[in-house]
Amino acid sequence: MKLLARLSLLAIIPSSLAVPTNDNQIASRDVVLNALPMLKPQRSLSRDLVNLDGLWKFSVATSANSTAQPWTGPLVTDLECPVPASYNDIFVDRAIHDHVGWVYYQRDVIVPKGWSGEQYFVRAESATHEGQIYVNDRLVAHHVGGYTPFEADVTDLVTAGQQFRLTIAVNNILTFETLPPGKVMTSALTGKRTQKYYHDFYNYAGLARSVWLYSVPKQHIQDITVVTDYKGNTGMINYNITVAKGTTRKVQIAVIDESGKTVAEGSGATGTINIPSVKLWQPGAAYLYNFRASIVDSSKKTLDTYNLATGIRTVVVKNTQFLINGKPFYFTGFGKHEDTNVRGKGHDQAYMVHDFQLLNWIGANSFRTSHYPYTEEMMEYADRRGIVVIDETPAVGLNFGLGTPGSVTFGPDLINNKTQAAHAQAIRELFHRDKNHASVVMWSIANEPASDDKGARAYFEPLAALARSLDSSRPITFANVFFATHVTDKISDLFDVLCLNRYYGWYTETGELADAEVALTTDLQGWVKKYNKPIVMTEYGADTVSGLHTVLGLPWSEEYQVAMLTMYHRVFDSIKAMAGEHVWNFADFQTSMGTGRVDGNKKGVFTRDRRPKAAAHALKERWTNLKKK
Ligand SMILES: *[C@@H]1O[C@H](CO)[C@@H](O)[C@H](O)[C@H]1NC(C)=O
Ligand SMILES: *[C@@H]1O[C@H](CO)[C@@H](O)[C@H](O)[C@H]1NC(C)=O
Ligand SMILES: *[C@@H]1O[C@H](CO)[C@@H](O)[C@H](O)[C@H]1NC(C)=O
Repeated sequence: MKLLARLSLLAIIPSSLAVPTNDNQIASRDVVLNALPMLKPQRSLSRDLVNLDGLWKFSVATSANSTAQPWTGPLVTDLECPVPASYNDIFVDRAIHDHVGWVYYQRDVIVPKGWSGEQYFVRAESATHEGQIYVNDRLVAHHVGGYTPFEADVTDLVTAGQQFRLTIAVNNILTFETLPPGKVMTSALTGKRTQKYYHDFYNYAGLARSVWLYSVPKQHIQDITVVTDYKGNTGMINYNITVAKGTTRKVQIAVIDESGKTVAEGSGATGTINIPSVKLWQPGAAYLYNFRASIVDSSKKTLDTYNLATGIRTVVVKNTQFLINGKPFYFTGFGKHEDTNVRGKGHDQAYMVHDFQLLNWIGANSFRTSHYPYTEEMMEYADRRGIVVIDETPAVGLNFGLGTPGSVTFGPDLINNKTQAAHAQAIRELFHRDKNHASVVMWSIANEPASDDKGARAYFEPLAALARSLDSSRPITFANVFFATHVTDKISDLFDVLCLNRYYGWYTETGELADAEVALTTDLQGWVKKYNKPIVMTEYGADTVSGLHTVLGLPWSEEYQVAMLTMYHRVFDSIKAMAGEHVWNFADFQTSMGTGRVDGNKKGVFTRDRRPKAAAHALKERWTNLKKK
């Protein structure tokens, strides 16, 4: 993007969105709310890390406090909770399952003896939705936002070789100032508090991802940004590196190919590295260089090294085409969830690898991280597997006046400027964490907002501008909801790709596929006429009870799911601007209780334990054939 264009974009970002929010500090003055963390910890010749996963002492706060009690002393409890896992389904205790408010996790940690002279941090990959880290009785980090990492420098608080008590307080409350938004209700009959929310997946909470203790040398690399390109046979890695304050030594770069050969070198904290005879990162055929950044002293001694797996590829949207490395790319795959039995949203490597195996089996080339950032491990795995990712913020459920009938969604009492500030922070944190992943080809900054609402444009325009100012190398999008039609939607011109979620034949025209086909065709043609942009159907699907069969092909049966997807595909194939199809959902998943959900949402093509429904076989046939074209 040209500099002038960039400046004019910045001009429309209100100053309240341009910097991280540092107010709301509690207890300790030096704890900055939502300070951006460093690069994902790793072990290298200069860095070490200790995994803190396992069973932690666990307790739920008994009072309905909106702030965590400042932590003092050991947790007195019989409960132990596994990390990583959501705590909700672990215990046979309805009070814990339904708990609204703070919970506490605690364990002892020893800082390795060898770390004297190093700088060290405690890092939580996520705490859903708000986290506070305490070292002994002292608050050292505070973070709001359930799906991005945060950390605390504990170097000055614990000596290497000593033990400390690590407590992480986690709060699951959603308000109109969090993402996703929600509202705590209190029963007039019993005083029981319940969390209401407007998104269709269960509000799992706790420490669902790993917790780490890690070390870096005093002079270290804090952050790396790479943006890749190529001309002819030459690959280019444009990079910027931030080093720790007080770093006096030089940055050196080596780029190493998959065979271990150094193919290019450079120096300095910013620059471009050229790679001759480049092997591009391609969908379905990943190739990753090791971009090795080091801090080296005058006698060539290496003080710090960070290894960043880097795929060289370009992403461009041109008219109605989505181009990866200059070639039209057609998305096939799913909106997914982090969701499994018992562990809720807890990260599980077995499920991660198995899910990618199933993506490969079914012929899918991509998924969307609906409706929140997934673990960093999954982004790295997608980089290695050549799976393409649409990376989404947790801005979901910003619609239907948030349960207040007749009211608008974007306004002072509901989704307001404070929500917008939280949204800006969610964008900042997601982009900061995932900017270097080759697999991530597009940012989705929201799912199904009421983009037809009067206030939608004022709300989204600065956020779209912020997204562009943070990353001009990737297209941006949001997933459009069915009631915000091409006529009533007020924001789609701000984005590069039209992502549409549609349920003709399910929520409307239920069971009437002929009607649904006409409605879908008319809808899509409206978007085609209005915009010269690629269209990706980011959601379409039908709830399907595994094992339910009908000869009449009625809703909820496996036959109906197949027939409905087939109808959609017939329509997609008739529209040139279609650039992809993501079925909702990869697998059945848990939702909040309600009369419309039987143990969760059943729109999975696989069951919750990853068994194929009939639709899986139908999709496999279609997508495998599309691949051959
Ligand atoms: C809420 O937390 C504050 C701060 O620790 C404490 O002073 C207060 O007693 C707590 N309130 C309740 C109802 O427990
Ligand atoms: C590096 O920073 C400069 C100055 O902010 C910016 O113009 C450039 O685009 C950045 N490059 C990368 C690869 O982020
Ligand atoms: C939100 O901010 C805009 C400008 O940034 C201002 O015009 C508007 O009054 C604010 N709305 C509320 C509800 O505070």
